[in-house]
Amino acid sequence: MPLFLGGLSLCTTVRADEGMWLPLFLKQNEARMQEMGFKLTAEDVYDVNASSLKDAVVIFGGGCTGEVVSSQGLVFTNHHCGYGYIQQHSSLEHDYLTDGFWAESFAEELPCPGLKVRFLKEMRDVSEVVLAGLENGTSLAENVRRDSIDARSRRLMKEAAQGEEIRVVPFYHGNQYFLFVYEVYEDVRLVGAPPSNIGKFGGDTDNWMFPRHTGDFSVFRIYADTANRPAPYSPENKPYSPKRYFKIDLRGCEEGDFTMVIGYPGRTQEYLSSYAVEQVLKQEDPMRIEARTLRLEIIKAAMDRDAQTRIQYAAKAASIANGWKKWIGEVKGIERLDVVNSKRDYEKRFGEWTATPEGAAYASVLPALQKAYEEFEAVQGEAVVFQEYVLAPEAVRFAYSFKSLCEATEENFSETLQKHRVAAADFYKNYNPEVDREIFEKMASKQAGKSAAAVPDPAQIERFYTKSVFTQPQKMLALLQDFKPAQRKLIQNDPLYRYALSVYDTYLSNIAPAVTRVRRQIDSLQRLYMRGQMEMKTFSGPEMLYPDANFTMRVAYGQVNGFSPSDGLVCKPYTTLKGIMEKENPDIYDYVVEERLKELYRNADYGRYANKRGEMPVAFIGTNHTTGGNSGSPVLNAEGNLVGINFDRNWEGTMSDIRYDAQMCRNIMLDIRYCLFIIDKFAGARRLINELEIVEDL
Ligand code: ARG
Ligand code: ASP
Repeated sequence: MPLFLGGLSLCTTVRADEGMWLPLFLKQNEARMQEMGFKLTAEDVYDVNASSLKDAVVIFGGGCTGEVVSSQGLVFTNHHCGYGYIQQHSSLEHDYLTDGFWAESFAEELPCPGLKVRFLKEMRDVSEVVLAGLENGTSLAENVRRDSIDARSRRLMKEAAQGEEIRVVPFYHGNQYFLFVYEVYEDVRLVGAPPSNIGKFGGDTDNWMFPRHTGDFSVFRIYADTANRPAPYSPENKPYSPKRYFKIDLRGCEEGDFTMVIGYPGRTQEYLSSYAVEQVLKQEDPMRIEARTLRLEIIKAAMDRDAQTRIQYAAKAASIANGWKKWIGEVKGIERLDVVNSKRDYEKRFGEWTATPEGAAYASVLPALQKAYEEFEAVQGEAVVFQEYVLAPEAVRFAYSFKSLCEATEENFSETLQKHRVAAADFYKNYNPEVDREIFEKMASKQAGKSAAAVPDPAQIERFYTKSVFTQPQKMLALLQDFKPAQRKLIQNDPLYRYALSVYDTYLSNIAPAVTRVRRQIDSLQRLYMRGQMEMKTFSGPEMLYPDANFTMRVAYGQVNGFSPSDGLVCKPYTTLKGIMEKENPDIYDYVVEERLKELYRNADYGRYANKRGEMPVAFIGTNHTTGGNSGSPVLNAEGNLVGINFDRNWEGTMSDIRYDAQMCRNIMLDIRYCLFIIDKFAGARRLINELEIVEDL
């Protein structure tokens, strides 16, 4: 089979800044990058035989990126990536989320159980091993193919050495497979975090938007055993000595300057058919937006009414709102760019090509995709209703989680019970039954007509919140204190538990299998369609087809660049501390500014961190193509030095997961000078500044 990556397309060069490229094949982008100002080579970014920039980039936790910035294993990532760990160490006495945290010595750095960072050691093409005999067009059923691939991948993964992890990942919708070897460090400690009114400044109000003023960073450190090898937490562990770390460049970036982002973008879908885009545009996004609008209205009103609820629901509201706001931007962007029609035009050309002998093998793929998406739409609506309506009241999911206690055997009963005690305490800490009931009533009243599922009537809902033990925290926690196997009857007869069982049962036995069946069909057609698009080679996007994001390391490059969000408006490419003072509002939680920061501003006490114009830069934007997962990614200048930390995109450009547009799509980066200014001038954590290697004009 043809090797798309590195083989086929080596001779061409890329034109636009669009794309998330595999570091292993960066040679093909090198000329264009250098033309844009890049002063290094592809080997400087990725080299299996020598240390290269990629060695300073890590997967941070489950879904973010981080970068090593000192010879002692110091790591920078976003505040929103470190959030859970900062929260883990926070209590009423030490509220690190609110007040920030700065360890004053190694001994004060806080272990974060469960947090791992992964270094990419190497990657290689394993398509021949994984796909042998399974090429498209063979009559093998999709599930047989899937099982063979899984079995072969598992065999490859077993080759991982101590402290290593191997992942085998499909590219180009399953036309190619790559193997990734990671070195996994699991003793990672919290070193520093700004207070939330810096690290989360602007909150959900400013999320997905520019101009932005969020100081979205936090600081961690990797620890290793005395041989510098990965090891579980131990007080004997030493700060990790990395193969490579980034130098920090205080010279800043101006409009037009080259930038490069190395990180772990999670998921994009640039090669979908018009049918798929229509499904997202007409069904998926609108349904989810509508449901979340209802839920957020209730949560936000409750948060405004009551300070306790505000704390309880802050993280939940943030995560519900993050997707909600992104989809709203995505729909607008897809419409503005008329993506469906431009895909249709392209499909017409694709159809003409398949009428030639060259493309004949792909003649049936688009009609088949069209049919499959009709089927998908019919089943997916029910799935979305289940996820966004039926599961909107948290008590439903929570009640269902007690199935495992009801089904526990004699041997694992006490262990299971203990897990439920912990989970219940966790759950109720951030739970308000009145808010939940309001959500239940609202969602039920709006669900009718959207799905075939039965909707509980008001009397039933009333029972859930007056008679069920799940919505009575004190009662439930007391019950679990000394819970006996025989008392499981209480749960089994609980009205909310019975309701939860029945809705989950419908979902798991009818809805999910139907969705999976059509999804599999779509996956196999999309694999064929992807291959066809690569062979036709006149894709409407960039000349070379970069693989969709799949949470593997990618390089995106572009330049610092403003944009025009709408007629008559032009955005500068950067913001400054002045904007924070302009946004300040002591009455609005998202816009509170601390006295210390105001004082630094009043005195223009920026030290070495000001830009040439004497301003204190905060955030900047560029044309680098990024997505969720790229949060925390290092932003490098032409010399490969750290100038920023990636953290978001502009709202007008969130459709870049489906269609990138160089005019409209911008990534948002924290200026590294603001990060250092906060560490140094605001927090006085000189000890951290002293271990950085700083490049500046003297
Ligand atoms: N929009 C950014 C991303 O998708 C940041 C999300 C965290 N911040 C927030 N206010 N919810 O992850
Ligand atoms: N904020 C996203 C993240 O957390 C990045 C993005 O979607 O641009 O990964």
